[in-house]
Amino acid sequence: MDLKENIHLKTLPEHIAIIMDGNGRWAKQKGMLRAVGHENGTKAVRETIEASAELGIKYLTLYAFSTENWNRPKLEVQTLMRLLVTSLKKEIKTLQQNNIKLNAIGNLKTLPTKVFKELSEVIEVTKNNNRLTLTLALSYGSREEILNTVKEISFKVKKNIISPDKIDESIINEHLYTQNLPDVDLLIRTSGEQRISNFLLWQIAYAELYFTNTLWPDFTKQHLYEAIIEYQKRERRFGKTSEQLS
Ligand code: IPE
Ligand code: IPE
Ligand code: MG
Repeated sequence: MDLKENIHLKTLPEHIAIIMDGNGRWAKQKGMLRAVGHENGTKAVRETIEASAELGIKYLTLYAFSTENWNRPKLEVQTLMRLLVTSLKKEIKTLQQNNIKLNAIGNLKTLPTKVFKELSEVIEVTKNNNRLTLTLALSYGSREEILNTVKEISFKVKKNIISPDKIDESIINEHLYTQNLPDVDLLIRTSGEQRISNFLLWQIAYAELYFTNTLWPDFTKQHLYEAIIEYQKRERRFGKTSEQLS
């Protein structure tokens, strides 16, 4: 059965964020190297982007590499960076053909030059696309992002560009890496782990959380549809009572 038929197109989440987890365990279960898990994870990335674009999702944000992931074995980090470069090279055409805009958040300066260059190129080439904004979180850590925001705003206060009593949520939003993105509506994490792992702490304040045991390389369009269907069953009250909403 195609679960897509059960999705209400009028109440789609505007912004879906995904913590793509479980590549290593997927490989281990098959007696293969972790690198094979990461390689197969790129297929799930492709499926998810395609399904999101087809449905009409406006923003998709994928957690691809965290600030903490730098602490993994050097070889694994290299594999992930290499995969990034090859995937970007391979997908640039498809992104362009499908009117998808690439965006990146994180401490991008810390990425290897090759990755940074390829990433910048794809971002530049796709900058005028407007069907779907695909954001890759790379060398991303939410605490670091908030820390940077505090620093930048402090400098502006010191230089009298911002007055302290004028600091509000929108000023904070404008200084985050996600300045051009709306708040997250639906946050998905695969692999059965139920934690946030330093991802978009500010931006998920009112997101619906969805955890699935599916390991990331096994994640298909149908899994995404399942998550959206579950999201559409939730009542987002934003502090109000149920009666107030109806
Ligand atoms: C997610 O899969 C990919 C990254 C974090 C880069 P993992 O590599 O974390 O897989 P597990 O959690 O070890 O199974
Ligand atoms: C979170 O996954 C980061 C990404 C998916 C890129 P991890 O596998 O690194 O998270 P922890 O360490 O298990 O929390
Ligand atoms: Mg993991």
